[in-house]
Amino acid sequence: MKLSVKNLSKHYDKPILQNVSFEMNTGILGLLGENGAGKTTLLEIISTLIAPHTGQVDYEGMDVVQDLHTIRKQIGYLPQKFDFFPHLTVQEILEYVCRLKNIHGRQRITEIEEKLKQVGLLEQRNKKFNALSGGMKQRLGIAQAIVGNPKLLLIDEPTVGLDPHERVSFRQLLTTLATDRSIIISTHIVEDVALTTDFVLVLHQGNVNYFGDIPAFIKSVEGKVWLYSGENVTEKLQKQGALIISTQVTASGVHIRYLSDTPLEGSLLLEPTLEHAYIYTNRKKV
Ligand SMILES: Nc1ncnc2c1ncn2[C@@H]1O[C@H](COP(=O)(O)OP(=O)(O)OP(=O)(O)O)[C@@H](O)[C@H]1O
Ligand SMILES: [Mg+2]
Repeated sequence: MKLSVKNLSKHYDKPILQNVSFEMNTGILGLLGENGAGKTTLLEIISTLIAPHTGQVDYEGMDVVQDLHTIRKQIGYLPQKFDFFPHLTVQEILEYVCRLKNIHGRQRITEIEEKLKQVGLLEQRNKKFNALSGGMKQRLGIAQAIVGNPKLLLIDEPTVGLDPHERVSFRQLLTTLATDRSIIISTHIVEDVALTTDFVLVLHQGNVNYFGDIPAFIKSVEGKVWLYSGENVTEKLQKQGALIISTQVTASGVHIRYLSDTPLEGSLLLEPTLEHAYIYTNRKKV
C-alpha cells in the first residue's frame, strides 16, 4: 500500500511526535527508536486507533475520515502488548477474529486454514493461548493481523522476549509476508532491522532523525568507527567527545571500539554497521 505520512504531530502533556513525515510503498520499513521515542504512538496513528493533533496520513489517496472503514479493512495490526483470552484455543481465537472482520461460512474455514499454514501454527490449532510459547504467541498475533489479507501490516516490537531461534524464524516469517504487502515493524533491536527491513526510520524524542535505505544510513558513519588497542584510554576518549561502543579487557590489553570524527593516534578504522549508524545519529541531537 502506498502510504504517505505528512507532518504528523501529537502531544499529551508534552510533545510526543513532532513533524513526522515519510512515504513508503511496498517492502518492510523498520521503525527504530529508544524507549519513549514515539514508535507505538506513530503506529497507533497510522492504524487509525488515535488521531494526530496536526498532519495527516494518506492511504493510497483515501481520506481517513470519509474512507475510514475501507482503510481499516486494509490494515493488520499486531500491538506491542498482544494478549488474548487465555483459555481460548488458537482455532477459536482466529474464528473470533474472522467474525470481527466479517468473514463467515466456508470462507472462514479456508481463511483460518490458510493463515495457520502461513505462520506455521497448523499443529498448534487446538492449543490454548496460555499454553503457547512466546514465539507461537507472536505467530498467532501475526495470523490474526493478516486475516482478511490487509495490504498494510503494522507490527509493534514483535521480537521482544523471544529466544534467538524464535527470533530467527519470526524474522523469516516477516520476510515471506512482505512479498505482497507493506510492513512497518517497530523495534529497538537494531539487528532485527538490519536483517529484515529495506528502509529505516529513526525516531528520537518524537523527531525523525533519519529516513531512507539502510546502506546509505550505514555509509553516513563511514570513517568514524575506530578500534584502539593498548592501555585504557577511556577517559581521554570521553574528554574529546568520542562515543564508546564497547570495551574489552584481554590479556594483551584493552580493546576499545568508539565513534569519533577524530581518532586517537594508533587507532584502526573499522567497517561501520547499522548499530553504529543508529547510535551515532541518535546521539548527535541529544
Ligand atoms: N495516552 C498517553 N497519555 C500520555 N502520555 C502518553 C500516552 N501514550 C504515550 N505517552 C507518552 O508518549 C511517549 C512515547 O510513547 P510511545 O509508547 O509511543 O513510545 P515507544 O517508542 O513506543 O516506546 P517503547 O520502546 O517503550 O515501546 C512516552 O513518553 C509515553 O509516556
Ligand atoms: Mg512502544
